[in-house]
Amino acid sequence: MEQDLKKILIDEKQIMERVQELGREISSQYPPETDLIMVCILRGAVVFLSDLARSIDRPVTFDFMEVSSYGEGTESTGVVRIIKDLGENIQGRHVLIVEDIIDTGQTLKYVVDVLKTRKPASIKTVTLLDKPERRVTKQIKVDFNGFEVPDEFVVGYGLDYAQKYRNLPYIAVLKPEAYS
Ligand code: IMP
Ligand code: MG
Repeated sequence: MEQDLKKILIDEKQIMERVQELGREISSQYPPETDLIMVCILRGAVVFLSDLARSIDRPVTFDFMEVSSYGEGTESTGVVRIIKDLGENIQGRHVLIVEDIIDTGQTLKYVVDVLKTRKPASIKTVTLLDKPERRVTKQIKVDFNGFEVPDEFVVGYGLDYAQKYRNLPYIAVLKPEAYS
């Protein structure tokens, strides 16, 4: 597995510190006792969700949505569809969408647009990683962002290539040979 990696971009300690900070930032944006529903975008954001939730000092519940834009490759196809929808009704609730990485921005834009039609009290977005160079959707605004990363394919801490590497405790750049 390690031989497929070019370099470690963000180590475990940096991730943990930043996730704690994000939790404090997010908590400060909601009045005490605000109930938050954290909507985790499967599957990449699962690891981030579990650490982030424990650093948020507000009552939270979890829900999950799976969308697809990728197939097995490393390039977004631009066509997003819902594979698994939420279990809960979000009308009148405070929604925090939890993403692993914003690349072109198309997945997040699609999810925000769909969830807005369900009349939540508020929608905010948090992503662990952001690749701003690759953005094609200008209308997308991310409320909380962990780290900006360069335009390279990254894996670990939930992020995969062809479903692998999700259990690495750090974020690493994959060697191009590993996916070509
Ligand atoms: P977007 O629609 O192009 O913004 O793509 C977002 C989705 O693509 C994320 O939720 C990830 O699952 C996946 N993705 C984008 N870039 C990477 C990467 O560098 N490594 C792993 N997954 C990625
Ligand atoms: Mg993925």
